[in-house]
Parts: sequence; structure tokens; C-alpha cells
Amino acid sequence: MTSGFDARAGEWLARARESLDKAKLGPRADEIGRVERIGDGVARISGLPSLQLDEIMQFDKGALGFAHSLDENGVNCVLVDPAENIEAGDSVRGSGDVLRAPVGRGLLGRVVDPFGRPLDGGAPIEPERYDPIDRPAPPIIDRDFVTQPVQTGVLIVDALFALGRGQRELIIGDRAIGKTTLAIDAIISQKNSDMICVYVAIGQKSSGVRRAIDAIFARGAPERCIVVVAGSASPPGLQWIAPFAAFTMAEYFCDRSQHALVVIDDLTKHAACHREIALLTRQPPGREAYPGDIFYVHARLLERSAKLSQAKGGGSITALPIAETDAGNLSAYIPTNLISITDGQIVLDARLFHEGQKPAVDVGVSVSRVGGKTQARALREAAASLRLDYAQFLELEMFTRFGGMPDSRVRAQLARGARIRATFSQTRHEPLRLAEEVGMIAALQSGLLDALPLDKLPAFRASLRDALDRDAAKAVAQLESAGALDRPLAEEFKAALAHHAQVVAAKTKGTP
Ligand SMILES: Nc1ncnc2c1ncn2[C@@H]1O[C@H](COP(=O)(O)OP(=O)(O)OP(=O)(O)O)[C@@H](O)[C@H]1O
Ligand SMILES: [Mg+2]
Repeated sequence: MTSGFDARAGEWLARARESLDKAKLGPRADEIGRVERIGDGVARISGLPSLQLDEIMQFDKGALGFAHSLDENGVNCVLVDPAENIEAGDSVRGSGDVLRAPVGRGLLGRVVDPFGRPLDGGAPIEPERYDPIDRPAPPIIDRDFVTQPVQTGVLIVDALFALGRGQRELIIGDRAIGKTTLAIDAIISQKNSDMICVYVAIGQKSSGVRRAIDAIFARGAPERCIVVVAGSASPPGLQWIAPFAAFTMAEYFCDRSQHALVVIDDLTKHAACHREIALLTRQPPGREAYPGDIFYVHARLLERSAKLSQAKGGGSITALPIAETDAGNLSAYIPTNLISITDGQIVLDARLFHEGQKPAVDVGVSVSRVGGKTQARALREAAASLRLDYAQFLELEMFTRFGGMPDSRVRAQLARGARIRATFSQTRHEPLRLAEEVGMIAALQSGLLDALPLDKLPAFRASLRDALDRDAAKAVAQLESAGALDRPLAEEFKAALAHHAQVVAAKTKGTP
């Protein structure tokens, strides 16, 4: 008994001696900085000569910040925590590490801040690891062409401005005309896909964020969504890092051959935040008082969205950044920057919105530069001449407004155009499946809808899903899996559409 104890004690002593021998004893120098001044979320720090750019710093009262810019006399530290109790003279330490965000499956279904701190009242996140929020974009050699579609469920977008996985498409328009709604609909539509969605709200009012979260949780697939929020009351530093953290969270899935959709709501507020920090840190202001590097910041961010090559696993990140315009002015500084960085833009128009056309997409100036090739064949064939027909109708409508009696051919064109417009308007948060989209456009193009009064089109659309599932289930399945129909199924599909149009027309006659 005693000898066993002695042996164990001896072993322990030997180990302790060994670690003592290895330990480097002697004086250790710790760098401690000092707050020179603080205000508006930015602190000026002196006395941290070996601090690196973007390094996290901790104030002695617990708040965190990061090194935004360095010069020979000190450091500008942008706070990511509220700064109420920090004063000049407080001490600060560098952490030796850059900003990191948590990544992993533990984030799915959660509402978090850019550091992964829960905002939904749930348990702390259990991340797989912490990755730097700033990561270089994949090089050209690791990228592939955009070949797979992203179904947004918004008919006008899928038919005329189709998106592909790995694309960056800007959603741009004046305030309160449905930008967020369009992006949220695209997220809800992923209920029928395998995509992971990251929605990042920057500088938004809590009520708006709440509405977006409720819509995603009630109608989408929240178990595949991450919501990152840095609201309008958050320090500018936290708002600034939010989109970078969101990309880092999405990259985790992209690296594992999965597909992610990142909605950034919105980059105008992010740019304003960047400008605020730049002015506070005394960077020279440029056009519209933005610092010269704002283009670089946004380009570097959005370049991280990519379709990876097969050798890299074939994952993708699709980005839907949102930007706000002032009185429809697309040629302001930030809108032009973002338009040139992205692969296309969906422009929303305030006049259309207030006339009741929702989503208020302006087909004349919207464009999708890469996704068209990925569009499902059935949809591409059905929608082939639609854009031209619609554009012609809009012009004709404008001309005939000035009076004059149009001839019968023009009248027919006007009637068809009004039906196209009615087909494209869609209630929010009710994204369509591919089969419904093909059905709506095929019915429109083959004249089936001409027999229906305009105000019955919503009824036609609302009951189309059930009708197709009942009468053309095989065709629906083939459309969803292959994106096209072979001949016998196409006939079955057409017959189901014709039958459905008859049923709706008969019901319409019954009601005054
Ligand atoms: N397709 C639609 N059908 C019905 N209502 C819609 C539709 N799209 C948007 N709306 C309504 O319009 C209002 C503004 O929409 P939303 O918040 O999406 O606009 P926004 O451009 O993101 O606004 P903000 O500039 O404030 O961010 C909301 O009340 C929304 O419900
Ligand atoms: Mg919005």
C-alpha cells in the first residue's frame, strides 16, 4: 500500500521537476496600451507598438474592439461593444488574434450577432471553430462557371432575370418599396431546395428585422437559415463587420460542397457605417464624403461569393446584396460601385410600387448577367418572347395614354400586356415552385388566361398548385427534377392547365 503511494508520488515529483526545467523563468513584458480619447465608438490608443492591423483589443472593463488603422503615434480602435463605461486613461491589451466569427452547423436555425452571441434568447451557440472574418476570395483557378439555378420563387425574377448558384445579384431601389421582401421571398423559396441561407441585417430598425425573421421562421426552412443582426442601435464597428462574419459563416458550408445564399440587407447602410468610421478616424474623405477604399471594401466582400470548381468540392455562395437609392438615382456613388461589382441588378421602381405593381421590378433596367444560362429549359422556352412583349406593351401603354383610338392589333397587344403585368404581380412571402411558374407563363402565352377577367388571375394562380399536383403530378415531378418536359408529359401538363383555366372561368361566371 505505502510503497504504491511512494511510487506515484515519486513519479509526480519527477514530472513536476521536468516541467520546471523546461519552463522559461525570468521577466516577461506585456504590452499595455492606454485610451487617449474615446467617442462615437472609436477610441484612440497609445502604447501598443507591436499591435497588428485588425487585431482584437480588450479594454480592462471587458469591451472589445479591433485595430482599424495604425500610425506612428498610436492606434485607432473601433469598438464592437457599447462604450459607455470606457474613459480616457483606461488600459487596453492586444490579443494577438484577428477578428473571428463562429462557424458550424450549431448556428443553423439561430439569430445571432456577428460574433455568434445569441439574440433569440436561446442557449449559447456551440460552434465547430472560429474562423477569421476576413478571408481572401477564392482564386480564379478554383472557380467554375455558374451552371445551377437558384429558384427565387418570384415569377418575374425567375422568368426574366434568372439567377445561378455563385452569382451576385444586386437588389436596388428607393426606400420601402419591397427590397427586403424580395430577398426574404428568395430565402423562403429555398424551403424546396438544399441551400443554406444567411440573412444579415445591418443598421436596420428592430421592427423590420423582426418582420423578416418572423417570415423566414413561419414560411421558410429555418433549420437551414442563419440570421445575423447588427441593428441600428449597435456600435458602428459591429455593423461594419456583420457582412464579413456572415460570409465566413456561409463559407464553412461552401467548403463542404454545400450551397449557400447570403442576403446582405443592406450595403448602403454598411457604406454609411464605413464612412462614419473613416471620418471619426480622420481618413481623408472622397466623393460624397466616402473614403476612397469603399469600392475595395465592397468588392473584396462580394468577391467571396463564388462557384467552386469540382476539385474544390463544387460548393457555392450566391449573394443578394441590397442597396437603397435616393429618388431612383442609380448613378449615385454607392449604387454605381455596387452595380459594377455585381453580376446584374434587379431594380425596383417606386412609381410601379405605388401603382400597386408588386414586386415593383423595372424590367427595362434590370439585368442578370450570368444566371440566364442556368434557367430551367421549360421556363426559358415558355418565357422566350415575354420580355420583349412586355417592354413593347409598356411603351405602347405610354403612347396610348396621350389619347387616340388604337387599332385592333394594338388593342390586342395592350390586353395581352395587361395580362403579363397581372401574371407578374405576386403577393409577398408566397414563392412559386418551378412547375407553377412554367404553368403560369405557358397559360399566359397560349392565350388560356385571355378568357379570364384580370382580377381573377390571382385566383387562377392560387389554386394552380393543387390543380397541377392533382392532374399532372408526373409532369410536376419531372419539371422539378429535370427542369424540362418530354412530349407526352408536356401534353398532359397543357391539358391540366386548360382544364384549370376552364374551372376558374366557370367559377367566375357563377359569381357576379
Ligand atoms: N409583393 C408584395 N406584396 C405585398 N406587399 C409588399 C410586397 N412587397 C413589399 N410589400 C410591402 O411593402 C412594404 C415595404 O417592403 P420592404 O420592407 O420589403 O421594403 P424595403 O425596400 O426593404 O424597405 P426599407 O427601405 O425600409 O428597407 C412592406 O410593408 C411590405 O409588406
Ligand atoms: Mg428593407
